[in-house]
Amino acid sequence: MLPPSIIAIDGPAASGKSTLGKKLADELGYLFFDTGVMYRAVTWIALNRGVLIPDEAAMTALAEDTEIDIRPPSQDDGRNCDILAEDQDITWEIRRPEVEAHVSQVSAYPGVRKALSAQQRRIGRRGRVVMVGRDIGTVVLPEANLKIYLDASAEERARRRYQELIERGEQAGYDKILSAMRRRDQIDSTRAVAPLRPAPDAIILDSDRLSADQVFDAILDMIR
Ligand code: DC
Repeated sequence: MLPPSIIAIDGPAASGKSTLGKKLADELGYLFFDTGVMYRAVTWIALNRGVLIPDEAAMTALAEDTEIDIRPPSQDDGRNCDILAEDQDITWEIRRPEVEAHVSQVSAYPGVRKALSAQQRRIGRRGRVVMVGRDIGTVVLPEANLKIYLDASAEERARRRYQELIERGEQAGYDKILSAMRRRDQIDSTRAVAPLRPAPDAIILDSDRLSADQVFDAILDMIR
């Protein structure tokens, strides 16, 4: 049996979607596409150019006009791919706390979502892709052959994000990360357009109780 050609993985921040998605894509020889990087890139560009984040019209124009390039990793520093915009490598810039603080607001703008979802759909429909995000199974690619919703408690996800930052040598405080995580969950799941929720036909997995390898093995078993 052929593996599903379009695999959608949705879920809240730091639930393990990217780790699972990258492993699955490598195993199947598929493209790995983390759609969150596009929202992050638009947010970073706005901050860099001094575009006001609350200005919805300006943010929409930015999302419509900006070219974000996603390429295979050029460096072995833990990245899954290179994110390029404004003639520079912004792979790690888009993970900075300033971006984290504003990206949920940016991703709630319907015009921004429309522009970025169209690009994501175009890439996803080519098939042989593992696409990761919040609304892939519900809005971007409802035709996906396999939909996974990866969940985990806010405490566990904050612990993982804290660990990641410390390992990259950055300053971090667990309590601050946890409250930011809860705030983002709230915005992502209550926004009017494409809120975070599992598709009715998604397989729901809770990664609090499963290691990354266990989640991967469970999905691979399902595929095979
Ligand atoms: O997965 P992430 O933390 O990199 O996502 C960054 C933000 O983008 C997050 O606030 C939710 C939003 N996002 C979205 O709304 N839809 C997607 N398909 C992917 C991300």
